[in-house]
Amino acid sequence: MKGQEALFSNKTDVWGTPQWLFDKLNDEFHFTLDPCSNGENNKCKEFFTEEQDGLSKDWSGGTVFMNPPYSNCQGWMEKAYEESLKGSTVVCLVPARTDTDWFCNLALKYGEVRFIRGRLRFGDTKINAPFPSCVIVFGKDIVQRSFHWITVKCGNLKE
Ligand SMILES: C[S@@+](CC[C@H](N)C(=O)[O-])C[C@H]1O[C@@H](n2cnc3c(N)ncnc32)[C@H](O)[C@@H]1O
Repeated sequence: MKGQEALFSNKTDVWGTPQWLFDKLNDEFHFTLDPCSNGENNKCKEFFTEEQDGLSKDWSGGTVFMNPPYSNCQGWMEKAYEESLKGSTVVCLVPARTDTDWFCNLALKYGEVRFIRGRLRFGDTKINAPFPSCVIVFGKDIVQRSFHWITVKCGNLKE
């Protein structure tokens, strides 16, 4: 499966974070845990796989980078917010689905929102994602309801 077809399918559940974006965020947050991995695409030394089920684990003590399967953003964003209440900083790369419950009730209310200006290229794809993305940060050291923008490094940036 290639191009647009793959981007619109559940294949996006396993597509990797662009390295430049992870590096940029990692410089700022110094991540220790990636709870969404297949055991090969983890971005941190400490990680959970689908078999282990990161959703059911305790993330306490971690600084977490979360790029979840997009087929269940609601569940993963609820988990990210709950873990932040226990003290973790959780940085979430998610589609900018501004009409969803998780975006309105969790991201907008309790998160710091960083919209991605331009479209990301996930994994090793050569084309831009057909959807916009954003980074939501939950944690005690953030300014809730604040809005920022990250500009893509490559891709079709449009005014
Ligand atoms: C969008 S990919 C992110 C991959 C990588 N962490 C990254 O940021 O590039 C989501 C990953 O979550 C994994 N996954 C799916 N369900 C999971 C679960 N219940 N617990 C942990 N990982 C899961 C998938 O196998 C997939 O590799």
